[in-house]
Amino acid sequence: MRISVAIDGPAGAGKSTIAKIVAKKFNLMYINTGAMYRAVTFVSMNKDLAPTQVKNICEEIDKMEMHFENDDLILNGENINERLTHPDISKNVSAYASIREVRQKLVKLQQEMSLKYDVIMDGRDIGTVVLKDAPYKFFLTATAEERAKRRFIELTEKNIEVEYEEILEDIIRRDYLDTHREVDPLTMAEDAIEIDTTGLDIDGVVNKISECIRK
Ligand code: CDP
Ligand code: CDP
Repeated sequence: MRISVAIDGPAGAGKSTIAKIVAKKFNLMYINTGAMYRAVTFVSMNKDLAPTQVKNICEEIDKMEMHFENDDLILNGENINERLTHPDISKNVSAYASIREVRQKLVKLQQEMSLKYDVIMDGRDIGTVVLKDAPYKFFLTATAEERAKRRFIELTEKNIEVEYEEILEDIIRRDYLDTHREVDPLTMAEDAIEIDTTGLDIDGVVNKISECIRK
């Protein structure tokens, strides 16, 4: 039996940071499903495909070979992670991620990965759709202000010029789009453990999750 851990929650809740640490601790492969939606957005925007051009976007996805190496998404042999976190991608990703056909394709790829490897996967619909039967499910939250502050510090450290207000606005807008979309909206699975990370440091969250997995 393969082990699978699902981590969901809104932007900046700490999902990827925490998933990477837990992955090392328990020898799991970390699958960043947000990076997959970002990669589809990146490719579509490069080809000038609007979210309405569903058929063309699907054709592009069929040409994309995606796998993970050392926590990073490799797209057609190239590590494009730096480009995926750019604010331009963040602004547009929720529109592409709300396309039913796009979700069907990516969910299928994610489920195939979970059959091949022991995984810890983070995203918006992991506990509710992708890994419905996962024995371990966590839902991370924090206030929008705290999440915007974290993202602001992270981008500033990477020398990406951003305004705090702009990030907060983007986070609030994406929270709204992700929780209100028709297909697989962001919601907490009934059997998930909710962790409010406001005021909790990374170690505190990792310890809580590790304790649950050990049990
Ligand atoms: O890192 P951050 O939380 O900002 O975002 P992400 O996890 O990289 O996800 C980017 C966007 O992809 C989200 O705002 C969602 O619109 C979409 N997404 C999704 O719809 N389903 C997932 N399983 C993962 C991401
Ligand atoms: O993946 P997600 O968008 O949920 O969040 P993340 O990219 O893991 O975390 C966003 C930023 O918040 C990172 O720079 C983390 O180091 C930081 N963070 C934090 O300061 N305290 C936490 N409890 C969790 C994350």
